[in-house]
Amino acid sequence: MAFKYFLCVLLTYNMLLSCASAAVHGHGVDNLERETDGSFRARDYEHYGDSGHNSEFDHEAILGSVREAEEFDKLSPEESKRRLALLLPKMDLNGDQQVDRKELKNWILKSFINLSREEAQERLQEADEDRDGAVTWLEYLHDTFGVDSEDDVGPDDTGDSGMLLQEEKAMWAIADANSDGKLEIHEFQVFTNPEEHEEMHQILINQTLREKDTNKDGRIDFNEYVGERGNHQDKGWLISEKDKFDNDLDLNKDGVIDMAEIHTWIIPNNDEIADEEVDHLFASADDDHDDLLSFEEILRHHDVFVGSEATDYGGDLMGEHFDDEL
Ligand SMILES: *[C@@H]1O[C@H](CO)[C@@H](O)[C@H](O)[C@H]1NC(C)=O
Ligand SMILES: *[C@@H]1O[C@H](CO)[C@@H](O)[C@H](O)[C@H]1NC(C)=O
Repeated sequence: MAFKYFLCVLLTYNMLLSCASAAVHGHGVDNLERETDGSFRARDYEHYGDSGHNSEFDHEAILGSVREAEEFDKLSPEESKRRLALLLPKMDLNGDQQVDRKELKNWILKSFINLSREEAQERLQEADEDRDGAVTWLEYLHDTFGVDSEDDVGPDDTGDSGMLLQEEKAMWAIADANSDGKLEIHEFQVFTNPEEHEEMHQILINQTLREKDTNKDGRIDFNEYVGERGNHQDKGWLISEKDKFDNDLDLNKDGVIDMAEIHTWIIPNNDEIADEEVDHLFASADDDHDDLLSFEEILRHHDVFVGSEATDYGGDLMGEHFDDEL
């Protein structure tokens, strides 16, 4: 994920090294996909972070590929614009030379699917030791838990994803649609991005309950929600968590988070994220406010949609950091 790299920029030199090695070996990567409260990070995580607006997310939402977004960042503005122009007829489904909100949303949702596949491909390559294009359970065990046999995993040990072995196994069984014991790319995609696949949601909800529902009544109250995260925190932190609990999570205001509310909490809503991204791109580029983006408007604001060497943001900064510090 791009945000992994983005995070690295913000960390110190030592941590930067560990980020770099996490990227290489794949360990610890999954934790970066979770918030500290255990919910899954949304695709637009850090879009509007502490350091301001992060245009990398916009570029990935248009290009559907972190790798391609990085490639664009090295192009001259002219070349970047030329390549963007080639995409526009593909977005413009009704061929009227304008991109409307529906067409843009449709495109962005497809980009999310492409991003998810790209992530899964990278992780598959890391775990697929014998390079046969599929990951076996043993290869996965080796890569994630660092063991050669299930017997070497303790009952309370969790892998990078924060899941117990039995939970991972249950997920594996669902992802392995043809039950041949290994996951090829489409199956591995379901396994590695479970939050984006409905058939995995109940397991994720169960995992959340297992971790937080200490009195085992099937619901999470505020104390359970805070759990050990509350140790060594100040009053301001507690107040803001209580506010989040009451106003964002406990939707029916009955004082506890039930299964349906856990679902809303931990599973990011890509549909909503795409709507927000459409709003953002329209606000940035719909100069004549006709609620349509003409190709001309998009190309005029090309740096909002795709990067180039002239775009000055995180990606370039990271390059400098790496040059300076390594
Ligand atoms: C997604 O990937 C497919 C296949 O590589 C490609 O044809 C399509 O243009 C991509 N779509 C988006 C929205 O990135
Ligand atoms: C989730 O937990 C419930 C209650 O323990 C159980 O009946 C159900 O089978 C679990 N579902 C999955 C998909 O693990």
